[in-house]
Amino acid sequence: MEITNVGILGAGTLGTRVALQAAISGYQVGIFDIHEKALDASFKLMKELLQQLEKSKRIEEASEKILSRILFTTELEKSVNQADIINESVTEDPEIKKELWEKVGKIAPSQTLFTTNTSYLLPSMFAEISARPEKFCAFHFHDVFYSRVVDIMPHVGTDPAMIPILEDFGKSLNQVPVIVMKEHPGYLFNTMLLALIGAAGKLLTGEIGSIEDIDKSWMVNFHMPMGPFGILDSIGLDTAWHVTKTRKDSASQAFAALLKTYLDQGKLGEKSGQGFYQYPNPAFKQPDFIL
Ligand SMILES: NC(=O)c1ccc[n+]([C@@H]2O[C@H](COP(=O)([O-])OP(=O)(O)OC[C@H]3O[C@@H](n4cnc5c(N)ncnc54)[C@H](O)[C@@H]3O)[C@@H](O)[C@H]2O)c1
Repeated sequence: MEITNVGILGAGTLGTRVALQAAISGYQVGIFDIHEKALDASFKLMKELLQQLEKSKRIEEASEKILSRILFTTELEKSVNQADIINESVTEDPEIKKELWEKVGKIAPSQTLFTTNTSYLLPSMFAEISARPEKFCAFHFHDVFYSRVVDIMPHVGTDPAMIPILEDFGKSLNQVPVIVMKEHPGYLFNTMLLALIGAAGKLLTGEIGSIEDIDKSWMVNFHMPMGPFGILDSIGLDTAWHVTKTRKDSASQAFAALLKTYLDQGKLGEKSGQGFYQYPNPAFKQPDFIL
């Protein structure tokens, strides 16, 4: 099948990036969010990302031309009625996603492929309610521009013919596709990442190390540009909280409670300007942080 039109559901941290990369790759894009404000912020973030990509000579086309391929809308129909493929990036809450997929299943063209970008939920949770289980698969990005792996994770009812289509589509979006052979919450990389973040959270809530020192240990030993708390800020503390609170062990519960204190103060990480660090110039990016 030929993909020319991409529908993106949710214009937050990830939906914005996937939509922008799809437009950069030449696709027509319709990005939908229930909040007008989220679409405004998405447009602003795209412009910032395009400036960075232009600076590092990673795009050849003019930004205006790329943005002209993107329709921003609060009307679900407009983002899905032309779509050959849909990637859903709404809030990591199963009830919100179920409600949305039920609506999408009723209005999307019959050939449209359905994909979810969920971080830790499973495609089988939404496949039936979408009324199109054979065309439903997880297609999970990381950061899109900086971390370019995309997980392809079918559920038992996914038509195997969908996998090579998603592999090609992923490559066309400048990603490295990897296949998760059976449903597994967290895919490949996030399973490993969760172990790191869980350990960092336990060290912090157990008052064994400070945010900065835990990050420094990781950054210096592994030559990394950020540590677990910098990573959490870039993921978004709300998304991290949704994931952490579902884990029943006492260390995860203690860390979820700590994350909640940040959310209650409006500290969502990089996207709100404040999380474990302050943005746009977080301490861990300063040259003297690891001196
Ligand atoms: N943040 C990451 O690093 C990351 C990476 C990979 C995947 N994901 C996944 O992507 C999804 C979105 O995460 P995010 O970090 O972009 O969250 P976010 O909070 O930044 O954005 C979510 C967006 O969804 C919108 N939304 C909520 N309900 C909606 C609905 N019913 N219809 C349309 N839009 C709706 C919100 O207004 C918001 O703009 C989650 O499933 C998350 O697990 C996130």
